[in-house]
Amino acid sequence: MSTTTPASAPERRLPDGRPTVMSGGPSPVPEPRGVATAALLDHLAGRPGGTYAGPLPQDDPVTGEDAALALYLCYELHYRGIEGVDDGWEWDPGLLAMRAELERRFLARVRELVGEVPDVGDITAFLKSQFAGHGEARSVSAWCEQHGELVHLREQAVLRSPYQLKEADAHTWAIPRLHGIPKAALVEIQADEYGQGVAKDVHAELFALTMERLGLEPAYGAHLDLVGATTLSGVSLVSLFGLHRRWRGAAVGHLALFEMASPPIMATLSAALRRLGFDEWTRLFYDTHVVADAHHQTVAAEALAGGLVQQDPRLARDVAFGALALEALEALATDETLDAWEAGRSALRQPLPTIDAAPGQEAEPVPAEDPRDRS
Ligand SMILES: [Fe+2]
Ligand SMILES: [Fe+2]
Repeated sequence: MSTTTPASAPERRLPDGRPTVMSGGPSPVPEPRGVATAALLDHLAGRPGGTYAGPLPQDDPVTGEDAALALYLCYELHYRGIEGVDDGWEWDPGLLAMRAELERRFLARVRELVGEVPDVGDITAFLKSQFAGHGEARSVSAWCEQHGELVHLREQAVLRSPYQLKEADAHTWAIPRLHGIPKAALVEIQADEYGQGVAKDVHAELFALTMERLGLEPAYGAHLDLVGATTLSGVSLVSLFGLHRRWRGAAVGHLALFEMASPPIMATLSAALRRLGFDEWTRLFYDTHVVADAHHQTVAAEALAGGLVQQDPRLARDVAFGALALEALEALATDETLDAWEAGRSALRQPLPTIDAAPGQEAEPVPAEDPRDRS
């Protein structure tokens, strides 16, 4: 029997010699945003058990700060948890009953935002037509490429951090709920998201690296207090889809459109960073996605979404709903961000401290080169 040693990739090392940037966990305890989150955080500081008697949020279930943080915190118990909060809360029946009411209100609002979900025959064609419409929509990445300064690129990274520092985790919950071709397709995509088993290549890890090079704290949850309701709701949307088997079709539709939309967005953000003189380490997260998602977009639209609907045509409407819900919440978040920037305001709940230059900016700005031109 002969054995072959696989050629190993050259070790990637940061300029300061470290091979990876680890973003730890659990999430720090955030500041409450109203009576509901004040009561919830108080409740979570105690021991699990009993009925939840705290007030429910009174603001909008998607764009209200109190409502969005409450649901986000309930889901955080399923990820890395919250500092000082007993792990037993994750499956506490009293808390789950309260979360179910938050979810009912959240889904009702998302349905309003999405509007009528069309009867979809060919789901792959439907997803491609949704993606084709993106060219006319307002775009944070295009704005960054054309007008973005250091402050905007830093704010953009902070806004994405609740999603990207646990990138892929919510969709992974759908794996045991699928079988056959769509399951294999999802595993293929997720294996890349998790760096094919190499810690420093995990996409969440690459995003932490980008944050560090932008002069931002890369620790998990470090900027939660700065991120507004609509962005948190975008994360809760996919947590809800991933955590409920009933919504497995929506989880698939969400991921499919996400992957299809990704390559041009990632290329544009990389170009924006390059224009500001950021080095290859800062851009690695984006450049990696330009390549990886060019493949994922096909797998997601055809084998994953198309394969699932072929197995069970009754799920077509849920797959479409997942994609449309992603679009609806992204559009809201985009409007909020660009309205703020165009008015000369911060898109965060509080502006970041000003810095003149970030660690990832090279002394001499490199000439602009469009990464989409690379072969
Ligand atoms: Fe990724
Ligand atoms: Fe991907």
